[in-house]
Amino acid sequence: MKKTILITGGAGFIGSHVVRLFVNKYSDYKIVNLDKLTYAGNLANLKDIEKKSNYEFVKGDICDADLIQQLFYKHNFDGVVHLAAESHVDRSISNPMEFVRTNVIGTVTLLNVAKHFWKASLDTIPKGKLFYYVSTDEVYGSLGKKGKFKETTSYDPHSPYSSSKASSDHFVRAYHDTFGLPVIISNCSNNYGSFHFPEKLIPLAINNIKNNKPVPVYGKGANIRDWLFVEDHARAIDVIYHKGKVGDTYNIGGNNEWKNIDLIKLLCSMMDKKLGRKKGESAKLITYVKDRAGHDMRYAIDSSKLQKTLKWRPSLKFEEGLERTVDWYLSNNEWLQNVTSGDYQKYYDMQYIKR
Ligand code: NAD
Ligand code: DAU
Repeated sequence: MKKTILITGGAGFIGSHVVRLFVNKYSDYKIVNLDKLTYAGNLANLKDIEKKSNYEFVKGDICDADLIQQLFYKHNFDGVVHLAAESHVDRSISNPMEFVRTNVIGTVTLLNVAKHFWKASLDTIPKGKLFYYVSTDEVYGSLGKKGKFKETTSYDPHSPYSSSKASSDHFVRAYHDTFGLPVIISNCSNNYGSFHFPEKLIPLAINNIKNNKPVPVYGKGANIRDWLFVEDHARAIDVIYHKGKVGDTYNIGGNNEWKNIDLIKLLCSMMDKKLGRKKGESAKLITYVKDRAGHDMRYAIDSSKLQKTLKWRPSLKFEEGLERTVDWYLSNNEWLQNVTSGDYQKYYDMQYIKR
């Protein structure tokens, strides 16, 4: 094998797209996917590649230093693409400690083992090795009406989730600056697409519209997010992993800002057509609920560095990506049923009562 890469969180939403891309594109790489399979991880996300000879799944926790060491000894990894995380802002408000554990302690555990195994130091920066950390634009905080997040924007996280990601970004940079660990960080805007757990806005809205349930819009629905098709994010990670500059940060975004309420209305009209409902029928499900605490108003990414230096750009128009996403959810009922069985309903019913 030309390279052996550890991908963490590969059974989650973005991770599964990254694993699929790497396994299919690089038949001469060995891809080891380490995932704890929390409520957000699902091996059904990887059914199409699970039997490939260059792919291996390991169930485990990134906080388990012994396991990570064993994996490094067994596979002699050339690289790590680290995505495993607790990723939902609302859950971080109800249970911050889990976010500190996985996002901060888990990340530092991986950094420690990589540093030790690759014998990294400022005098001997290991050649051909890379620790790539997949982070979020939420570390930069919230924007006013104008401006975009650049790689040089100061950190200003507000939620326990974004604070835990900001903290881990700092640790990743500290391991580069102090111990010579070869690292790259990318900070991406909101993703959407297939295999997205229906607790996040777009898949939750699709699922609720389909089932004639209320579509909860936080506050006035005026918050703005910059949406990127998940496969474009996976392509960006591929380009940055292979061509990015060690020690650098890259912002990834869709240049595609939408106010939440406008996005929900677009989804409702798409769903009316797909489900053969009367125009305006699905929009009746829109329900304004109590706002998220500390709710960031606007995110927008300036991805010009990535576009200019590594020639990446989003491949799809939003309407096209959204339609593909809606079609995927409507034709993957079994997946949706599986992930929304068990505790899911209990958890979300509780959330609505709280609001
Ligand atoms: P996700 O919640 O869908 O998946 C997370 C995965 O990590 C799951 O498979 C889960 O089982 C696994 N995991 C959780 N804790 C673990 C642990 N302790 N050990 C091993 N595995 C564990 O998340 P996602 O939306 O795919 O996000 C992936 C990464 O990308 C995260 O680091 C997130 O912060 C970042 N990110 C997400 C977005 C987005 O819009 N979803 C945007 C930018 C960055
Ligand atoms: O910006 C990148 C981040 O995007 C990632 O780092 C996070 O992991 C990912 O979850 C996402 O965070 P957001 O909080 O922006 O995504 P979410 O889908 O939870 O919410 C999007 C917007 O929609 C936000 O303004 C809150 C609002 N919202 C969300 C839900 C779940 C609603 O109005 N109603 C809802 O039911």
